[in-house]
Amino acid sequence: MTVPRTTVTLTVDEETVTDRISDRTLLVHYLREVRGRTGVKAGCDSATCGACTVLLDGTAVKSCTVLAVQADGHAVTTVAGLAAPGELHPVAVQFRRHHAAQCGFCTPGFLLAAVGLLARTRDLTGADVRRELAGNLCRCTGYQGIVEAVLAAAAEREPR
Ligand code: FES
Ligand code: FES
Repeated sequence: MTVPRTTVTLTVDEETVTDRISDRTLLVHYLREVRGRTGVKAGCDSATCGACTVLLDGTAVKSCTVLAVQADGHAVTTVAGLAAPGELHPVAVQFRRHHAAQCGFCTPGFLLAAVGLLARTRDLTGADVRRELAGNLCRCTGYQGIVEAVLAAAAEREPR
């Protein structure tokens, strides 16, 4: 059976792109294989690990749970688009400062989940961060450094 293909136009890391893709292609695979965003990690492909997390119109989503055609007309941000080349996003600075990353497979997803969380939440506690990032798994560091990094990034941002 032939899988239908659709032409989509979306923004990936602030670049507007148009591609003709299979209606079955998951956003994670589109970003990696068509758009070269290999910082988006394909871990479990089943909504469990969070390694594939990206921002869709500013909201953190697991890109293995989204069809690429569903991103048509929307803005996707991957870890590659968080900061200018050679620079670190403020959350990434805190990850480095708090030793929150080791192997890096999970780190892009954690960064995007944290950025999404910080964009929509004020007055975060450690419990909030643990609850909100529970969908992102890391088998290397434990989670304490990650929680400390997100809280430090929250404390550092400008008051509203
Ligand atoms: S690859 Fe998407 S949650 Fe694991
Ligand atoms: S640093 Fe997260 S899985 Fe290794």
